[in-house]
Amino acid sequence: MGRVQDKVCLITGAALGMGREHALLLAEEGAKLILTDIKTDEGEAIAKEINDSGGDAIFIKHDTASEEDWKQVVDKGCQHFGKIDVLVNNAGVLVLKPIQETTTEDWDFVQSINTRGVFFGVKYVLTAMQKAGSGSIINISSIYGIIGAPSASAYQASKGAVRLLTKTAAVEYAEFNIRVNSVHPGVIATNMTKDFLTEEANTEALLGSAIIRRPAQPKEISWGVLFLASDESSYMTGSELVIDGGYTAT
Ligand SMILES: NC(=O)c1ccc[n+]([C@@H]2O[C@H](COP(=O)([O-])OP(=O)(O)OC[C@H]3O[C@@H](n4cnc5c(N)ncnc54)[C@H](O)[C@@H]3O)[C@@H](O)[C@H]2O)c1
Repeated sequence: MGRVQDKVCLITGAALGMGREHALLLAEEGAKLILTDIKTDEGEAIAKEINDSGGDAIFIKHDTASEEDWKQVVDKGCQHFGKIDVLVNNAGVLVLKPIQETTTEDWDFVQSINTRGVFFGVKYVLTAMQKAGSGSIINISSIYGIIGAPSASAYQASKGAVRLLTKTAAVEYAEFNIRVNSVHPGVIATNMTKDFLTEEANTEALLGSAIIRRPAQPKEISWGVLFLASDESSYMTGSELVIDGGYTAT
């Protein structure tokens, strides 16, 4: 208990999936939470669940593709809690199509959230962290930001961009005591993957070369996020935390 006691953590895409699980675990460990998502009902529900069990969370509606939304979220979060210590850039979308079927709209949609949205988050939260004197930025990439696979070119390009944006931000802002790392989940059982995890044959295909032959539960990624949010990771920056059941090991 208390591994992130009183740290103010902003989590995007916190209404569902892994973002929701990160919120619950960080709250259990003492964090104060700014939760954001485009889904208002589910986002307010998770903030209420945390507050009802003695935590401290606010929900703000937020489209991470919007620069204006980002400015407002960072302002409102700082007004409410006085600072931001941790950003979990988690919101993301997946379009699965071969390259020749990927339209310009598909490409731009994925980049607007997975790449531009993450860039805005890093950019606007840095000012708040500089004021606070320290910070930890956790960008959620994917194993698909490390290796190739069929049918997800826009997604993979976006997650590769997140991997290197992370390293650049780590280099640029180390002098301000701001650490920036990326997390690379493998196959996780969430809304994003549920349509592929219905039949054994599809699950097997999606698991690819994973050594642990099952999808992870979201909380198995949240433990990594908790580590990066906490001071336990004080010597870690510009790095990649791969949590993939050994997918990229072979
Ligand atoms: N599920 C996996 O297997 C897997 C693997 C590797 C990486 N990831 C990454 O992990 C992150 C979380 O994925 P998940 O599986 O929990 O997805 P999910 O689809 O279950 O949840 C994503 C959340 O992001 C929100 N969101 C979508 N677009 C948004 C926007 N423009 N602004 C704000 N919020 C928005 C959704 O409403 C939802 O609450 C994503 O970045 C994803 O790419 C997922």
